[in-house]
Amino acid sequence: MTTPEDICKQAETLRKALNQHNHQYYVLDDPDIPDAEYDRLFRRLQKLEARYPDLVTAESPTQRVGSAPADHFERIQHTIPMLSLGNAFSDTELLDFDRRMRERLDMDEVEYAAEPKLDGLAVTLMYENGRLVYGATRGDGTAGEDITGNIRTIRSIPLQLIGQDYPQKLEVRGEVFMPKTAFERLNQQAREKDEKTFANPRNAAAGSLRQLDPKITASRQLDIYIYALGQVSEEISAHHYDTLNRLKQWGFKPTPLIRVVKGINELKAYHEEIERQRNDLPYEVDGVVYKINAYSQQQMVGSVSRAPRWAIAHKFAAQEEMSVLEDIEIQVGRTGVLTPVARLQPVSVGGVTVTNATLHNMDEIVRKDVRVGDAIVVRRAGDVIPEIVRSIPDSHRARDPLFEMPGVCPVCHSAVQRMEGEAIYRCTGGIYCSAQRKGALKHFVSRKAMDIDGLGKKMIDQLVDRKLIETPADIYELDFKTIADLERMAEKSAKNLLKAIENSREVTLARFLYALGIREVGEATAAALANHFSTLEKLMQAEEEQLSDVSDVGPIVARHILDFFNEERNQSVIRKLQEVLKIHYPEQKTTARLPLEGQTYVITGTLSTMSRSIARQKLTALGAKVAGSISGNTTALIAGEKAGSKLVNAQDAGIDILDEQELEALLQNNHTDVTRQS
Ligand code: IVH
Repeated sequence: MTTPEDICKQAETLRKALNQHNHQYYVLDDPDIPDAEYDRLFRRLQKLEARYPDLVTAESPTQRVGSAPADHFERIQHTIPMLSLGNAFSDTELLDFDRRMRERLDMDEVEYAAEPKLDGLAVTLMYENGRLVYGATRGDGTAGEDITGNIRTIRSIPLQLIGQDYPQKLEVRGEVFMPKTAFERLNQQAREKDEKTFANPRNAAAGSLRQLDPKITASRQLDIYIYALGQVSEEISAHHYDTLNRLKQWGFKPTPLIRVVKGINELKAYHEEIERQRNDLPYEVDGVVYKINAYSQQQMVGSVSRAPRWAIAHKFAAQEEMSVLEDIEIQVGRTGVLTPVARLQPVSVGGVTVTNATLHNMDEIVRKDVRVGDAIVVRRAGDVIPEIVRSIPDSHRARDPLFEMPGVCPVCHSAVQRMEGEAIYRCTGGIYCSAQRKGALKHFVSRKAMDIDGLGKKMIDQLVDRKLIETPADIYELDFKTIADLERMAEKSAKNLLKAIENSREVTLARFLYALGIREVGEATAAALANHFSTLEKLMQAEEEQLSDVSDVGPIVARHILDFFNEERNQSVIRKLQEVLKIHYPEQKTTARLPLEGQTYVITGTLSTMSRSIARQKLTALGAKVAGSISGNTTALIAGEKAGSKLVNAQDAGIDILDEQELEALLQNNHTDVTRQS
């Protein structure tokens, strides 16, 4: 049966449209049609292809997860070797590198392209006449494994290049990685199914890419950034930076945050800047890479056997180190959960001395088979609490028995319960347990809650141990003398603390609800509850059914909220708090749309008239979204003083930039009494 011409045309149009929407979604991060509409187009193409099988082409968006499981990977010889990079671990080593380049090129200053060093694994992608022909791993640098079937499942890799003016032969190289959120989700699922977790996103990406069944790879949400060329049939540009930029128009995602830098100070500044952003980036980076920008100069400098001379990786401090597990202690949190904490032989991780690390819960201890006395790997990623990644038991030494959870709370000696179907153990002592009281108070004063600066962990411990406070309401009874008498309290800090307590008396309902520490009521749920019920009274009187009307609230959360407000003691604390606080209720909901609905802002740098978090609150109160990084969705970047790479990125991407005055004007022009909103 030959396929009628109008059907061929229809299929062609659908394929083009789907590829275009796919590119908008996965490469530009800026979806242009709703998911449901995409699915409809996709099914239409699938139906056509089912009816007329000769319509199916390898580039069809329906064929991403097409190939059957393989029993092994074929070897692929690289056209040009895939090199690795030399490393610089210090400023001195970087200085040496720059000096060598200047000497070899006989120049006073060399221009480099600076990029983040992504922590994934290198692949090469070969395109002929705009079509993806194969994808391979780096292997030993001269030959790798043919992983085309898996590569095709990565949505940000084009199967067919966009436009017409691409080189007939185009080989690009880049890093496949797993975004941090996808990694967390994958490990969470593994834990729920009692399966092995991955130690870090890099291992997860490697494990996912080397699956024999592409269906598994497809489910892992891998992504890619392109950072180099392999073999090309014609030159794209004379400079690396411009080349990567051109790759965008054919549908590729080149390394983000790339910048042209020269002179040792700019190189160092770039390193510092990316290291500062490291934890906020949605993917793992372990350093930055500097590459001589002009290809002609790269050639003059040349390569040694395994690595180019013209590039270097400037690494960040390592996040994983080895130590010894000396003991396991139990910490009791504000909801009574018992958390095993590892006491370690002190070890410096990324410039910070680590002596404690979390072991999460008993299931994790069993799964990782961590025992006292073992050598272990500890990981500290930025602000995140250090954790034990794995143990490396010494086979020559008899090991300690596996740790056991205590039957009674180590703080208040109440019974410990293990909830059915849960990995956690809980102290049943409730408010009688001073650890739970302290935990609740620490949460109450924390930054996203009542934000009482200066009332830290040590201070709360002292206040509770000396029986000066018991509930959050007691904080507002503290006087100068009581505070000044505490250990490590100078007159000035006592005054500051009193002022911070005073300032916290005015609070939005959303923050107040969050501060109460109701189980499973985080910031977002608290805000949703505040907006839905508008007043505390209405919320406290709500029944399960009304609570379930709130988008964030399911049956379990509803139960926790009801239990919390039913508790006599909680009611009394809330009554007292209502007397001493001024709670701002959100304005009654109107059906009118908020003025900035549908807009997305990114805030960077230091603002002089308000903190970034206040600016965020003001914008969200007007209906805008505030995102952490620039994307195709960004309406405008709000740039304060000392704005860094986000400003450069926004400028590069042609995104509107507002200064502080323009932000003020934006807020004024859309005037709504924002302080009353959550
Ligand atoms: S360029 C000829 N750029 O680092 C130079 N590599 O240690 C080839 N990597 O195998 C590499 N981010 O897997 C380059 N922005 C980046 C990179 C990067 C991560 C990886 C790559 C390479 C390894 C070398």
